[in-house]
Amino acid sequence: MPSTLDVRQLQKDYTTADGSLSILRGLDLSMDPGEALAITGPSGSGKSTLLYLIGALDTPSAGTVTLAGQDPFQLNESQQAQFRNRQIGFIFQDHHLLPQCTVLENVIIPTLVGVQDNAEIRARELLTRVGLAERIGHRPSQLSGGERQRVAVCRALINRPTLLLADEPTGNLDRSTAAVIGSLLLDLNREQKTLLICVTHSLDLAERFPRHGQLEDGKLVENR
Ligand SMILES: Nc1ncnc2c1ncn2[C@@H]1O[C@H](COP(=O)(O)OP(=O)(O)OP(=O)(O)O)[C@@H](O)[C@H]1O
Ligand SMILES: [Mg+2]
Repeated sequence: MPSTLDVRQLQKDYTTADGSLSILRGLDLSMDPGEALAITGPSGSGKSTLLYLIGALDTPSAGTVTLAGQDPFQLNESQQAQFRNRQIGFIFQDHHLLPQCTVLENVIIPTLVGVQDNAEIRARELLTRVGLAERIGHRPSQLSGGERQRVAVCRALINRPTLLLADEPTGNLDRSTAAVIGSLLLDLNREQKTLLICVTHSLDLAERFPRHGQLEDGKLVENR
């Protein structure tokens, strides 16, 4: 069933030795099934914090996140892990691939938690799709930065997530490789109707997204 994302009055404060830092201040965001949103904003404005909260990798100080009818913060720990595994695909800025595993193994890892038939077949299909069919037995250290990021994209997609969260997926790449990764994310979003949120410093990339918002003073301001 196609899913919507609804973020209401999301707040995140960090307590430090010097006092309290208020990073997200009542942020609202609604996305309809299949939508794609790019988020820009200055360093330190809270973009990664927002993705971590939406992906249930961190807990908010206040507010709600509802994805596919569920608020992950109302779930117990094991239900929350299952929610992350089934609903969320996360692409980290620096790929986070396991160095000791091959390309194929890295892509299959998220399927080991739940039951997923044909994981290897699907992993091979995804890797072929991103042009890495010949590299499946290689280790991450044998790949270029753009190739590693493509593996990370496949890993994020292996469980057919409802929502794909990408934190500066093209941050470390040259312009043309960045454009390839950007096209890949947008094509997958259009074809599979996966919700997509992509944080980026690249205005070139942000402009290719149907929706584009900026984090300002702890809120999302959209240029519609
Ligand atoms: N655990 C923490 N404790 C205290 N402050 C934190 C913590 N994690 C993040 N912050 C602060 O929250 C703010 C937002 O961080 P965040 O990583 O979300 O920014 P960002 O917009 O992703 O920046 P960048 O573009 O540099 O990646 C920063 O000022 C950061 O120092
Ligand atoms: Mg960040």
